[in-house]
Amino acid sequence: MTRIIPVPPFDYVVFGGSGDLAKRKLLPALFRRFADGQFNDSSRVIGVSRTDISREDYRRIAAESLSAHIPEAERNAEVVNAFLACVDHITLDVTSGEGWEQLGAVLHSDADHIRVFYLAVAPDLYGQICLGLGRGGLVTPRSRVVLEKPLGYDLQSAEAINAVVAGVFDESQIYRIDHYLGKETVQNLMALRFANALFEPIWNSAHIDHVQITVAESIGMAGRASYYDHAGALRDMVQNHLLQLLCLVAIEPPASSAADALRDEKLKVLHALRPIEGEAASRLTVRGQYRAVGAGSVSIPGYVEELGRPSSTETFVAIKAEVANWRWAGTPFYLRTGKRMAKRVSEIVIQFRNIPHSMFEPSAGRIIANRLVLRLQPDEAVQMFLMIKDPGPGGMRLRQVPLNLSFAETFGVRQPDAYERLLLDVVRGNQSLFMRRDEVAAAWSWIDPIRESWERSGEPLHGYIGGTWGPSASIALMERDHRSWHDDGT
Ligand code: BG6
Repeated sequence: MTRIIPVPPFDYVVFGGSGDLAKRKLLPALFRRFADGQFNDSSRVIGVSRTDISREDYRRIAAESLSAHIPEAERNAEVVNAFLACVDHITLDVTSGEGWEQLGAVLHSDADHIRVFYLAVAPDLYGQICLGLGRGGLVTPRSRVVLEKPLGYDLQSAEAINAVVAGVFDESQIYRIDHYLGKETVQNLMALRFANALFEPIWNSAHIDHVQITVAESIGMAGRASYYDHAGALRDMVQNHLLQLLCLVAIEPPASSAADALRDEKLKVLHALRPIEGEAASRLTVRGQYRAVGAGSVSIPGYVEELGRPSSTETFVAIKAEVANWRWAGTPFYLRTGKRMAKRVSEIVIQFRNIPHSMFEPSAGRIIANRLVLRLQPDEAVQMFLMIKDPGPGGMRLRQVPLNLSFAETFGVRQPDAYERLLLDVVRGNQSLFMRRDEVAAAWSWIDPIRESWERSGEPLHGYIGGTWGPSASIALMERDHRSWHDDGT
């Protein structure tokens, strides 16, 4: 049974209220929480945007976003109307400074009322918005600010943003969101590791040969050219989502579920990542860009055609990373992410080592090492691949089978979107699934030298055909180590 944890009354202020993220993710997630009864009578959602739109127009925008992103069966007209009645809009130009007073006037005046300021805008506006909130006296002790990733575009710019935000908000009020941490399977990774005695004794390099983390997307830039071409896959995905997943696989068991207990352990992992710079960047990383595929009416454009100009931005990255500590020395972590890949799939693969000796005759067949697969999407599941005896009479034949735990099938409940959980964790004041300032800095400190090495050495950009698993150099990265990516059917 799903348990609804009540939250105190709040004003959820979404800067970038008519933007893509608000429409695609935030408004639908808030609606679902509303529909489950988590809004108190005085809780509201206040969209803030530069465009001069009335409250009614914004409610129409919100209604369209729900129609586009929530299945009809979940959209009871009465509930939708009640939700829209909680939605308001303020026109505010962050750069010219007009509109702060109007925002102050609509916010609930009760000091206990929680204020969440969600910055769903470009990171170069974070500083100005926080300063505006501070100057306008809108930040109460029960206020929180949510910062979307990527925070800056390197360590220096991230620290500059963090310093301005820290001038207005205390670290305990700052929520740096990485929506991968709100995904159900990621939560399950922690349950699996820390609520079962089974895995811990073998969760180390003595038993685990390597770890693979893949976040493959079938879409291209999806209309975000100006942002994406500036960022590229390394900043957009690896610096945050993939490194956070790596951390959760690699951390030591935290002493408690307190936010800092978990974040302290993640920080240690980030600090233990062996730096990749200079010549090592060519050896341990692959950068790629998708090329056009097909011809005529069935053709899919390549990255530069979509962009409309030449670009050397990577849309694919593969990295062989090492966590240089006692637990993980000798167990590489292979990371891979890309746009326009063969299919949309995100998974963590824990590949165990081969058995040391086989008692079986060669005729029993090949013994394939155990593999634990945690699939984040599209269909969330945990699979443990084991060897068993092929059923039936006759001689001993061995066969690999997955022990399957598909959450949708087993529990028959809708898997909540990551944002649903995270948006209300902010209201509850639970920072466990948000990144602390030092974590973000540590992640950039590992990423920056890779990017700088690419720039210095003119690291080649490998082309890959849209709809494939990326450049052949990524397959070679594995093959050099006599290993292969999980999707290759091995
Ligand atoms: C975002 C990236 O953080 O995550 C996007 O900016 C990417 O480029 C998206 O498409 C992927 O999220 P999900 O939840 O669809 O895997």
